Amino acid sequence: MLSAQTNFYNRFSFLYPLVDVFLKPQKKKFFNIINKLPEGKLLEIGIGNGAHIKLYQRHQITGIELSTSMLNIAKKNAPSTISLFEMNGENLTFESDSFDYVVLSHVIAVADKPEKLLLECERVLKHSGKMLILNHFTPNNHIKYIDQFFNLFSGIFHLKSIFYIENFKAINHFKLEKEIALKPFSYFKILIFSKH
Ligand SMILES: C[S@@+](CC[C@H](N)C(=O)[O-])C[C@H]1O[C@@H](n2cnc3c(N)ncnc32)[C@H](O)[C@@H]1O
Repeated sequence: MLSAQTNFYNRFSFLYPLVDVFLKPQKKKFFNIINKLPEGKLLEIGIGNGAHIKLYQRHQITGIELSTSMLNIAKKNAPSTISLFEMNGENLTFESDSFDYVVLSHVIAVADKPEKLLLECERVLKHSGKMLILNHFTPNNHIKYIDQFFNLFSGIFHLKSIFYIENFKAINHFKLEKEIALKPFSYFKILIFSKH
């Protein structure tokens, strides 16, 4: 049976381009960083409708996605060099130690089981591979009250608006290498972790 979250993305995949307009500037920065990394095997989990696929300029890319509707749109956006699969990031079918990079763009705060997702990222990453996360992170300033208010109904969007990555035990299996706060308000960040 499909999870409520997958049903949500299956139903509203046609509206996602509107959300993506808002995410475009931060994704540009994120992919600039990814494109400067040494050539490698990269897995993007929750690649969505693949609106940003065109921003990848290097690497051997594999994308996975839970929602069939989002994946079907991604397939239309993707060149044949990118491999796309319907798969759950919390239960990957890839061999251990098989990727140099794992990319999570606005996925970890919507995943049903983020701990499991992080453990799977760790498993499929090669030794000293990197996990790159773009997401919102609840800050320790007045903006946390907006997150707290929005949290009253963010469940409708299958999203955790109050989001502290340090609350996940599995994040301790990684070493934080770099944190880049994005404007405005540093609410969105790029975090680069390496596998211990
Ligand atoms: C907010 S969208 C982000 C899409 C894209 N990464 C982006 O940055 O535009 C979250 C996506 O993650 C997918 N997703 C959520 N949990 C997932 C999981 N456990 N495995 C694979 N995909 C997942 C959803 O179906 C949805 O397409």
